[in-house]
Amino acid sequence: EKGEYRHYMLKEIHEQPRVIKATMEGRVTDSRVLEQALGIEAGELLQDVRHVQIIACGTSYHAGMVARYWIEDLAGVPCSVEVASEFRYRKHVIQKDTLFLCISQSGETADTLAALRQAKKAGFRAALAICNVPGSSLVRESDLVIMTQAGPEIGVASTKAFTTQLTALLIFSLALARKNGLSAEREADIVKALHLVPGQVSDVLALEGEIAEMSERFVEKNHALFLGRGSQFPVAMEGALKLKEISYIHAEAYPAGELKHGPLALVDSEMPVITVAPNNSMAEKLKSNLEEVRARGGELFVFADRAANVKPEENIHVVQLPEVHEITAPIVYTVPLQLLSYHVAVLKGTDVDQPRNLAKSVTVE
Ligand code: F6R
Repeated sequence: EKGEYRHYMLKEIHEQPRVIKATMEGRVTDSRVLEQALGIEAGELLQDVRHVQIIACGTSYHAGMVARYWIEDLAGVPCSVEVASEFRYRKHVIQKDTLFLCISQSGETADTLAALRQAKKAGFRAALAICNVPGSSLVRESDLVIMTQAGPEIGVASTKAFTTQLTALLIFSLALARKNGLSAEREADIVKALHLVPGQVSDVLALEGEIAEMSERFVEKNHALFLGRGSQFPVAMEGALKLKEISYIHAEAYPAGELKHGPLALVDSEMPVITVAPNNSMAEKLKSNLEEVRARGGELFVFADRAANVKPEENIHVVQLPEVHEITAPIVYTVPLQLLSYHVAVLKGTDVDQPRNLAKSVTVE
């Protein structure tokens, strides 16, 4: 039931602190990941994994793109990510020591299942599923399963499924990293940061009024550009997808460094540019990208922490987010973009929970 909320999507956005915590439950201590919580055979199956191939669609694909940064950074294991509908129709090379990782909220997405079945014929070390529906086809056909604890997601636009997928993927990345030389110290530092995420997401939810006000500036717009760098690039992609799906505004995401290679030509006062800019190692580079936009009369909407030191000025709107660990930042920075697209859609009067032309579970090609 929606309860006090006007839409399921809003209710599901607000459930995130609780369901992120539920997804950590029993899988992490104060300072480490419990490998056996990923399955009794996890230890053995993760041993000697030399490559991770992630397959997913839509929002789940964006979760996979974030995970690639974690897997390569923390575990030092090469990771490829591909949308299932492309993977299944091309000739691909899968090495025997590959972990095949499918991410799906429903566990019934036709293309994702087809990709898994096809890859099985080619052979790989093990199939891991990150899934939200117990007993789904994906869960039944995988060797290892990490269930997200998002609970039923009714809104067609995925929100809590995404942030719980990220939580599960970070836990998995740490387990794999431990087998590949991650120090106990770095593991503890990241696990502690993960424990802070539910509270940080609550802090972001408290900014809803400010974000709702900002959304008024989008109602009349036909296009929007989302920018992020590093692991925030997939967050920008997810923000653009949410805006497209529920508000029907055309949105595109770019890694900010690509701006001058083309999309900068689109920037004028009619093109709002949304940027996710936590104070990580890329912040300085990102700021020079912002200058490029501003110099062309673009209107900027920046989600950044205080340390990023982005000053509000004419045509620069800043929403200040809590300071977060660089590794967990993608989880926290997703939430303001969900709120932004939700409020734009409400103002436009679209059917938020049931956007036109879309189905919740894509069980046919
Ligand atoms: C977007 C959205 C879709 C799904 C995609 C995959 O908000 O919900 O893009 O993410 O259809 O679905 P699952 O995760 O069930 O495989």
